[in-house]
Amino acid sequence: MSAVPSHSHNGYPTAPANVRHRSLVKWVESIARLACPQRVIWCDGSRAEFDGLCAQMVDSGTLLRLDPEKRPSSFLARSDPSDVARVEDRTFICSERQEDAGPTNNWMDPRQMRSTLHELFTGCMRGRTLYVVPFSMGPIGSPIAKIGVELTDSPYVVVSMHRMTRVGTAVLDALGETGAFVPCVHSVGLPLAPGQADVAWPCNPTKYIAHFPETREIWSFGSGYGGNALLGKKCLALRIASVMGRDEGWLAEHMLILAVTTPEGRKFHVAAAFPSACGKTNFAMLVPPASYAGWKVTTIGEDIAWIRPGRDGRLYAMNPEAGVFGVAPGTGRRTNPNAIRMLASDVLFTNVALTDERDVWWEGQSEPPAHCIDWQGRDWTPQAAAAEGRKAAHPNSRFTVAARQCPSIDPDWENPMGVPIDAFVFGGRRSTTVPLVTEANGWNEGVYMAATLASETTAAQAGSQGVLRRDPFAMLPFIGYHVGDYFAHWLRIGERIAMGEAPLPRMFCVNWFRTDERGGFIWPGYAENMRVLEWIVGRVAETRGGTSTFLGTSPRYEDLRWDGLQFDRSAFERAIALDPGQWRRELDSHAEFFARLGDRVPDALARTRARILARLPY
Ligand code: OXD
Ligand code: MN
Repeated sequence: MSAVPSHSHNGYPTAPANVRHRSLVKWVESIARLACPQRVIWCDGSRAEFDGLCAQMVDSGTLLRLDPEKRPSSFLARSDPSDVARVEDRTFICSERQEDAGPTNNWMDPRQMRSTLHELFTGCMRGRTLYVVPFSMGPIGSPIAKIGVELTDSPYVVVSMHRMTRVGTAVLDALGETGAFVPCVHSVGLPLAPGQADVAWPCNPTKYIAHFPETREIWSFGSGYGGNALLGKKCLALRIASVMGRDEGWLAEHMLILAVTTPEGRKFHVAAAFPSACGKTNFAMLVPPASYAGWKVTTIGEDIAWIRPGRDGRLYAMNPEAGVFGVAPGTGRRTNPNAIRMLASDVLFTNVALTDERDVWWEGQSEPPAHCIDWQGRDWTPQAAAAEGRKAAHPNSRFTVAARQCPSIDPDWENPMGVPIDAFVFGGRRSTTVPLVTEANGWNEGVYMAATLASETTAAQAGSQGVLRRDPFAMLPFIGYHVGDYFAHWLRIGERIAMGEAPLPRMFCVNWFRTDERGGFIWPGYAENMRVLEWIVGRVAETRGGTSTFLGTSPRYEDLRWDGLQFDRSAFERAIALDPGQWRRELDSHAEFFARLGDRVPDALARTRARILARLPY
């Protein structure tokens, strides 16, 4: 951290000597003049900086230090109960023209938004520190990495950015004197009057998460939580990057990236899109069942993939993040043993429960403790919880941890050019209709499946849960431009690859969440998803068969490996079933969805729908 003694004309310390980028310095000064922080600190990304900020937050009551034996170098934060998830209804794409934001985004005229933000940001950092956080999405210096600079008045955001991105001096060096960066301005929106005591989790009931796609800027006001505040993640690496990708011929996607290595040593790479809280982190870190001796699954990324055509004409995917901001509830030894090991030390937990041993607990981690302190700081016992239906951990409670701590991390996860993708997988949470796995009939039908992806909503989104919403490519809240143009972009990328020699990645749709008459999941999921993954890579290698259906190609019972699992043919038939009646209704709802999106939806999708409809048996 550098707080330099000399002062610039506006009273704030001048930038450290290693900052050679004049327009960066001028921009920081202009935001400081607007927001009036007490001081400005340029972050260097060092361990000392991280430790110092954590110690400061322990003193101020924002963080609790966990037991150093049980959970070394780890902390717990409890947010304000009103600030617990991404706020999609307060998230805006402020393109010059409303039609360019499309029907799936909230739009506001950029001039109006600028004037609103100007008012909100005036003096909004009074009594606080403005931290300057230079960060790189992607390995520093990679030709496909992008640099951002986040100005924030939240030390919690700074330490989270340390974990989630590459922060500090090396980024400034990569930026040089004139390098491009995405300006990201963030404030919790709670200025302090002289002498006013701070609260543990400052935030403001008024929230704006605003993106300016033409000028590639991000402004966020009022929230200190997750994707609202760690601006490298959803805001830069998805919303702004999707616009860059559209203009530059690549894709920014809400996808995990994993590798499957066979006992013969053949390695396949799969990128998979799932809406929030559909077990994406678990799938990315999958440990194959015991019957898969010699097979290996390794993790390249678990949330975001930047994908572009390489010189050889194949698509290459890179994980722009350096950390994991994972949903805690449901993460346990059975569901995700790699994550449990990853969380052994150096973790920042938010909104999980605190045990009497000063360790952490959440639903699904292990047997409930006899007593703990819940995410709001109240006593919690299993008995009281059962009586009141009160969770110990918030359903969207999180862990923030460096990706390199993941035991299954792939040796290539920081390859500056990414890894070649063999297959795309699209999955949602569907209790009916969608089968366990289907291979699409080629790229365009895969794009159709992804465009019509739907999921029953969960706690990662503020608002009601359990409602079916269409979530194209699992990108509904993250596409920074018109969704119809986004579909067209995917189709164009496919056309471009098809013109070369390299094979197009195969496209699959999966559903782990189908239920039986009693509402129980039919498919065991978790490690057993390996059986589906093996079939997927077997399709790529052309060593696995299947049967042709009106939707694509499905495995037959004998196409999947079953040793080590009791799952009989009739259970499989229920998991894989395609009901023409349900699909007629499903395709009707696709047509309604496309109609709602308007006339920028490419005709190719309507033609694909007609083709699938024509294949439906009567
Ligand atoms: C996330 C999300 O935090 O998708 O990854 O909400
Ligand atoms: Mn996500």
